[in-house]
Amino acid sequence: MKFSSASPLRGRLNVPGDKSISHRSIMFGALARGTTEISNFLKGADCLSTISCFRAMGVDIEENQETILVHGKGLRGLKRPDQVLDCGNSGTTTRLISGILAAQDFDVTLTGDESIQKRPMKRIIDPLSLMGADIKSVRENGCAPLHITGAPLHGISYSTPVASAQVKSAILLAGLYADGETRVTEPARSRNHTELMLSSFGADVKTEGTTAVIRPARELYGQSIQVPGDISSAAFFLAAALLVPGSEILLKNVGINPTRDGVIRVFRQMGGQIEIVNRTTRAGEPAADLLVKSSRLHGTEVGGEIIPTLIDEIPVIAAAACFADGETVIRDAAELKVKESNRIQAMTENLQAMGADVRETEDGMIIRGGRPLHGADIQSRNDHRIAMTFAVAALASGQDVSIPQWDCVNISYPTFLEDMNSLINR
Ligand code: S3P
Repeated sequence: MKFSSASPLRGRLNVPGDKSISHRSIMFGALARGTTEISNFLKGADCLSTISCFRAMGVDIEENQETILVHGKGLRGLKRPDQVLDCGNSGTTTRLISGILAAQDFDVTLTGDESIQKRPMKRIIDPLSLMGADIKSVRENGCAPLHITGAPLHGISYSTPVASAQVKSAILLAGLYADGETRVTEPARSRNHTELMLSSFGADVKTEGTTAVIRPARELYGQSIQVPGDISSAAFFLAAALLVPGSEILLKNVGINPTRDGVIRVFRQMGGQIEIVNRTTRAGEPAADLLVKSSRLHGTEVGGEIIPTLIDEIPVIAAAACFADGETVIRDAAELKVKESNRIQAMTENLQAMGADVRETEDGMIIRGGRPLHGADIQSRNDHRIAMTFAVAALASGQDVSIPQWDCVNISYPTFLEDMNSLINR
């Protein structure tokens, strides 16, 4: 894919449904009694991996034009799949499903693509094993493929070394099946969709500061879920509209859960004009329209507790920082090294290829903005968020940028190009 235009972004856009909430709506719907009806479901490859895993375990999932219907099997209704479960590129599928599989009365092997087979799974194997789970990394390297033999589980009180909603959620899902209370304490608060959604499905979950507490469930109940727009997808348009002069756009129905909204806070801190209007609630989550106008940005510091609330948006924040006046320091973000790719390296190398002044640090990046960028061939490392970030960098710089392996955007945003074009060509 080749990008170069720098025409302003104008108009309004409904960004696709939230990826994290879409995954969870399938999983919790499958474990519930009754039917769960999901609208604005994200039909990206990651969420389709979750659908295919649950279909392989006997769950009837109907895909219609506007909605997805999950005919739940109840907490004990999954069946042993005939084949290895393929989680594709999806860390959320792999980690959350492991918490569920740990408690079933069958054994199963799960794996995924080349990237998934390199991502750390010890972070879920350790706590789930403490609960009594039998999980083995088949190659004994702490990564997928994982072989999981269902076992009786007991509640634990666990402190996670990193703030990770995937780890927290795996433990909470196992906690649904445990024989007592399960508590997970994090160093900083990660996204809380699992807690909010499980509670509306009828589970007994509560939050005490950075601790989530769950009690075993007898039953979950099917729900109707209107998935809010994904703020992680909206972030690319936020950045593009802020950076390309003369832009003004309205992003409709974006989820602004405070455990996810760090990107808005940071762009505002950098001088970005983002207005939050028409606040509503969707699926128990705060949502709103975001009115964005092109702005002159200045550098900032991003670190500490805000990091988990914008972890997936750091690549596009780093790109935006190249166009800001002064220095931006991103720290406490070592988790970026174990995402779909090493995103600290991927960002540093690709921004440097465009001529930016960027330095990689132990746990982040230091970016000196203001140098004019030039065109480059980008190595996306097959990472969807890196590919889309450089589409934004291309638009903002007005330079020719080519992004091979562009198809990886299908992981989280299959209609990205159409949506970007609808804002540019007006
Ligand atoms: C997610 C949690 C985050 C995030 C990922 C989705 C989730 O991962 O990066 O894209 O849906 O729970 P970690 O839990 O590894 O931080």
